[in-house]
Amino acid sequence: VAGADEVPVGHLFHGRLLGRELAVWRDPGGGVHAWDNRCPHRGVRLTAGTHCGGRIRCRYHAMEFDRDGACVHVPAHPGLPVPSRLRATAHACAEAFGLVWVSLVEPQDLPGLPVERPAGPLLALRPMPVRAPADRVLDALAGAHAGRVLGRTDLSLAFEPAAGCPEAVLFLLQPADRDRCIIRGVCFAPQQDSALLLRRYNLRLRTLRDSLEAGAHAPAPEEPLWAVEAVP
Ligand code: FES
Repeated sequence: VAGADEVPVGHLFHGRLLGRELAVWRDPGGGVHAWDNRCPHRGVRLTAGTHCGGRIRCRYHAMEFDRDGACVHVPAHPGLPVPSRLRATAHACAEAFGLVWVSLVEPQDLPGLPVERPAGPLLALRPMPVRAPADRVLDALAGAHAGRVLGRTDLSLAFEPAAGCPEAVLFLLQPADRDRCIIRGVCFAPQQDSALLLRRYNLRLRTLRDSLEAGAHAPAPEEPLWAVEAVP
């Protein structure tokens, strides 16, 4: 749901996975966390709040939540015990391949990938949002990239080095919702200057995005993600 460098300590990253908004953040120890982007008190987006060391403070009533999502401070009632229902919905979250991964269903290992992580440096590419479903984008990537396909899963595709692309590359699709996805990618053992490599892939992915979106209808307005519940 994010590049590792998009989630520095102190920042609240707004992610999206399968139609769900996420607040992704890093604690001072380096651990990454992904919560539903909704304060359990009155539903305000947590990404509008503040990162205070190992806690997140909601912008509305300034309640604070620890790294497990439990509310640990209610400024309006500092002397009273905190109700246990005040807990952010936390999802399994891990960091690997220079990316932050989230599982919405239950704590899981990383999904099966079509390549092993080779030894040596890697470079995470800039994300490219595309207004098209993931399976269509994966087919377009398979046809557009030089190099032999090393392996493919439902949401990833790996290529071996080729002329003009001297590094192996793994593309991963983040399904933001039914009609939109984000192309992420990792180059293994990059041989070029990082800035040049990022520019080269960015240009290619932008061309791919433009061809996929050409002629596509504007997407329908998004459905509200949650019904707002009255909270006593
Ligand atoms: S809405 Fe977040 S603390 Fe009240």
